[in-house]
Amino acid sequence: MAKTQTFTCSACGASHTRWSGRCDGCGEWNTIIQERPLSAGPAKKSLGGKRGQSIVLTELSTEESPPPRTLCGVEELDRVLGGGLVPASALLVGGDPGIGKSTLLLQAAARFARKGVKTIYVSGEEASAQVRMRARRLGLEESPVQLAAETNLRDILTTLEAEKPGLAIIDSIQTMWADNVDSTPGSVSQVRAAAHELTTFAKRHGVSIIMVGHVTKDGQIAGPRVVEHMVDTVLYFEGERGHQFRILRAVKNRFGPADEIGVFEMTGKGLAQVTNPSALFLSERGTPSPGSAVFAGIEGTRPVLVELQALVAPSPHSQPRRTVVGWDSGRLAMILAVLEARCGIPFAGLDVYLNVAGGLKISEPAADLAVAAALLSAREDTALPADTVVFGEISLSGALRPAPQTENRLKEAQKLGFTAAIAPAGGKTGTVAGLTLTRPSDLVGFVGETFGAG
Ligand code: TYD
Ligand code: MG
Repeated sequence: MAKTQTFTCSACGASHTRWSGRCDGCGEWNTIIQERPLSAGPAKKSLGGKRGQSIVLTELSTEESPPPRTLCGVEELDRVLGGGLVPASALLVGGDPGIGKSTLLLQAAARFARKGVKTIYVSGEEASAQVRMRARRLGLEESPVQLAAETNLRDILTTLEAEKPGLAIIDSIQTMWADNVDSTPGSVSQVRAAAHELTTFAKRHGVSIIMVGHVTKDGQIAGPRVVEHMVDTVLYFEGERGHQFRILRAVKNRFGPADEIGVFEMTGKGLAQVTNPSALFLSERGTPSPGSAVFAGIEGTRPVLVELQALVAPSPHSQPRRTVVGWDSGRLAMILAVLEARCGIPFAGLDVYLNVAGGLKISEPAADLAVAAALLSAREDTALPADTVVFGEISLSGALRPAPQTENRLKEAQKLGFTAAIAPAGGKTGTVAGLTLTRPSDLVGFVGETFGAG
């Protein structure tokens, strides 16, 4: 009969064929314990002597009604949630300190509370008086939200169990203290334990729990990435401090599309939703100037038009600068290389700056052609026509690939008053969705058509 026993080090996880006093994997003493596989029958008396129970298996085709969701009425938030708040779900809202997470969640709490969801807001960062003051400033003091200023997780869970709310907001996960874990609040093990406790509590008691998480400078939620794996939905609240635009982005959502964004504006009376972000992102655009190109992008399920700005100038440095805000710097290097290798347009000795206007971060490869257009326009000191949008993916060979949802991009551009588009658009020609469509065959063709001989 096959051996059903293994020996495992409880410190490093190394497995051994026999017991010994010292683990030769990590060198710790007295850490090797005998393990019996779960399938090996009843557990030891000391573990309760329990046998596993059979679980109920169902078919994939089993009909299940989708979970009832609550809409808060703020369309930008409901959409990012995947169509409202799912009961018994755990969410994480991450973002830089001061970006407006507490403001957003207090406003959301008030909305859900008014929709009849019993809502509790627990602040570990601010005193109740401070939260109340903020509520007054936001005009929400009459909302039936219940407040607490507390960091002791055991007390919080006990209270939630007794109060049975539909939604609980924990602001923030870094301030929570689980007394069964021997380290300070904010440490990796505390954050992980607190997130685990809250997530399992949400499932077991049918409470939706939204946790706030501060993000470190390198863009990670302070503490372990494992928090992101535990929860159902991860939203990031991003934006530039100097700008009033804020973007709530779903980076993971078990109940809806990821990459969906909601756009807000920080005003003196809290966050206001922006239902037409394209108009907002383009509102700062002045007269057509060299280095500017309008990209027709798709964020989640929605088309969004945004201005890309480039600056190309002779470099005083031996190593020219490449600075990007809002886009991937590796992708910029690739486009510069393709322009040089396939079109013979060198950028050596030139500093290159690229900026996505309005503080939006874009990650679509479909922005390639718009980036190339902005770079070339800056380099040649020639403005692109003001009424034209650009999109399409560039491959290393210099070929252009059509972007997904071409039609939606064109429709949005048309809605905002654009009359022409430059895009590799599959089989479409002539006028599409009211726009005159130019379809360059490759990057060399694009350069020739748009900037003369190149
Ligand atoms: P806050 O929600 O406290 O940020 P976080 O919880 O992410 O740390 O937001 C703080 C900023 O928002 C602060 O700089 C002031 C600004 N703010 C407004 O501009 N208008 C408002 O109505 C409120 C409440 C805050
Ligand atoms: Mg806060």
